[in-house]
Amino acid sequence: QNDLRTALLEINKEAARYYYYQLSQKGGQAAHDYLTGRALTEETIRRFGLGYSTMYRDDLYRYLKKKGYSDGQLKESGLVTYDEKQGPHDKFWNRVMFPIMDVNHRVIGFGGRVMGDAKPKYLNSPETRIFDKSRNLYGLDIAKSSRKPSLLICEGYMDVIAMHQAGFTNAVASLGTALTTQHASLLKRYTQQVLLVYDSDGAGVKAAMRAIPMLKEAGLTAKVLNLRPYKDPDEFMKNLGPEAFQERIDQAQNSFMFELSVMENEYDMDSPEGKTAFYRAAAEKLLEFSEEIERNNYIEAVAKKYPVGYENLRRLVNQMGLSK
Ligand code: GTP
Ligand code: MN
Ligand code: MN
Ligand code: MN
Ligand code: MN
Repeated sequence: QNDLRTALLEINKEAARYYYYQLSQKGGQAAHDYLTGRALTEETIRRFGLGYSTMYRDDLYRYLKKKGYSDGQLKESGLVTYDEKQGPHDKFWNRVMFPIMDVNHRVIGFGGRVMGDAKPKYLNSPETRIFDKSRNLYGLDIAKSSRKPSLLICEGYMDVIAMHQAGFTNAVASLGTALTTQHASLLKRYTQQVLLVYDSDGAGVKAAMRAIPMLKEAGLTAKVLNLRPYKDPDEFMKNLGPEAFQERIDQAQNSFMFELSVMENEYDMDSPEGKTAFYRAAAEKLLEFSEEIERNNYIEAVAKKYPVGYENLRRLVNQMGLSK
């Protein structure tokens, strides 16, 4: 069983080398142009080991067979699938390849992106004996030694890479899945504070709302970064650059105020009833802070942002606390 794990790690490493090599070949020119077109430098391509899976549907399969791996091992790696009619063929072809590393820099799987607008945009390795999506974070192998006060969590491969290239080497991404409690514990091993840098669309807000309680549960402080008017960190960086991004980091909202501003959208703040209901909900949430000083500091923060007096809000919180 350990032999299988070892073989799978070797296969993934061989595949990463192979894809990387293909990127430098004639057939990989379009893929290389694609990456350059997305503003990635040669150094970034090398640091992240980006590659290209060719047009031929069993290119990697034949290469790895020649290296002596068995059909059984190749199937277990998830890089080759066995089709009754067509026989063995590669999972990835004609895609830009992103090797996924564990914290020990070992290749455990891949993400592959189409270069146009075909669907699906990204394909990922299936879960295997060595690849557990809920326990690994893309970029953590580099980010863990970045010596920054926090880790930045984003959605995508390209986001991680764009942030690293801009000097934010503390960026990681969950692998096309929502953040899990295991991810939160993993993060806790390397930092006290995380900054959520999710896409500024509805899905990104939802993902942040789901991640915050998990991060808190793991004992982490969380902040949320606002990328507007840009869609994701990659596009932000391309348009406004690192200085502006650093400003957004400095202005990041703490998770409580973020949750509150999302809640606010559920109420009609133009009507007295709506406002009252919102302040009640806010007071309810403020009661979650068991320490009085902390609770009062948050009451102050809320009273600063919303037209409710500090004393009014504090009284409401106390009333609601008493009636529990
Ligand atoms: P770019 O278009 O390359 O900038 O990608 P993106 O990272 O901005 O994509 P998006 O915001 O749509 O998705 C975020 C992440 O979700 C991606 O990096 C992938 O890991 C994952 N993802 C996106 N689309 C797909 C898909 O079609 N299939 C799968 N399995 N994962 C996807
Ligand atoms: Mn998508
Ligand atoms: Mn998205
Ligand atoms: Mn993007
Ligand atoms: Mn995106």
